[in-house]
Amino acid sequence: MKPVKWGMLGVARIGMEKVIPAMQQSDLCEIVGVASRSAEKAEAGRAQLGIAKAYGSYEDLLADPEIEAVYNPLPNHLHVPWTVKALEAGKHVLCEKPLGMDAAKAATLVAARDRSGRLVQEAFMVKCHPQWLKAKALIDEGRIGEPRAASGIFCYHNTDPENVRNMADIGGGGIMDIGCYMTIFSRWMLGAEPKRAVGLIERDPGFGTDRLASAILDFGDGRRSVWTTSTQLAPAQRFTVLGTKGRLEVEIPCNAPNDRPCRITVDDGRDLVGGGREVIDLPICDQYRLQGEMFSKAVRGEGELAMPLDESIANMKVLDALFASEKSGGWVAV
Ligand SMILES: NC(=O)c1ccc[n+]([C@@H]2O[C@H](COP(=O)([O-])OP(=O)(O)OC[C@H]3O[C@@H](n4cnc5c(N)ncnc54)[C@H](OP(=O)(O)O)[C@@H]3O)[C@@H](O)[C@H]2O)c1
Repeated sequence: MKPVKWGMLGVARIGMEKVIPAMQQSDLCEIVGVASRSAEKAEAGRAQLGIAKAYGSYEDLLADPEIEAVYNPLPNHLHVPWTVKALEAGKHVLCEKPLGMDAAKAATLVAARDRSGRLVQEAFMVKCHPQWLKAKALIDEGRIGEPRAASGIFCYHNTDPENVRNMADIGGGGIMDIGCYMTIFSRWMLGAEPKRAVGLIERDPGFGTDRLASAILDFGDGRRSVWTTSTQLAPAQRFTVLGTKGRLEVEIPCNAPNDRPCRITVDDGRDLVGGGREVIDLPICDQYRLQGEMFSKAVRGEGELAMPLDESIANMKVLDALFASEKSGGWVAV
């Protein structure tokens, strides 16, 4: 396959440190250029990544006919606007999560995509990781019986006022940043859409962002997911699916390391000290490379997108319901 030629909007940390270096390891992706609002930062980014082109504005990158696909890791409030501009410029777009500030804004991408005839996908790299594909396969083959409940935690500690996660007006806060993962896993592993949601949210008094959030998602028929996210607690990640015959746990659900095997535990629950526990190690891989490769193959018509837009919009609807629940103090229909 001819490699897809990529450009990145902004010198975002996630792009510079993880996504682009991983894609550079692949024969399916050619990283051609990086753009920044500042020509100096673009040039520094170009040199750091060892790539050909630097652009002193996002517009200049979009105007370059050599670029076929754009990676958009801008702050959350710029995901939809710059994804639309990139589509209008004829580029395919891999846009960081969460896809928009709310579901209605994310949904505007459907028309923009259809007008452009290009591909667009939210960059939920976890959808490409073999540990999650394996977890889903195990659940589907009945290893834990009927999946009825899920529980997750995702916490980190970040009080830097300059960090985009601590800026409420541009889409900061834990639910937008990491609650979106808990929601994806819940919907995916339970194989259903939540009917209603309730959120208990504590906000940082200075930043105004949600720094501790707990959610209950009710999927009906006796199925639910309960999760907690925090931007100001000790780092922790775990996701567990509880079934009628067993339990499945993904050890590092989101920031899966790329230098050691990832681990799933399946426990048939015969005792509480691990008598029925199987630990499955997955081969070492880089989920950002896999994401870039899947998207590039889809661009060439040689594969499917890891996550269609309607799934991203469904996910955003749950986040919307949690914020509405914060206001109403009760259950909100999704
Ligand atoms: N998938 C993942 O694993 C993962 C991990 C971390 C983050 N993310 C997502 O990636 C995105 C970026 O996160 P990050 O932590 O990498 O952010 P970051 O380092 O702060 O980078 C954001 C970039 O956006 C550009 N920008 C344009 N307008 C801006 C504004 N008003 N304020 C700040 N920056 C602005 C800046 O680039 P220029 O100055 O060069 O124009 C900046 O470097 C977020 O949407 C986040 O949710 C995803």
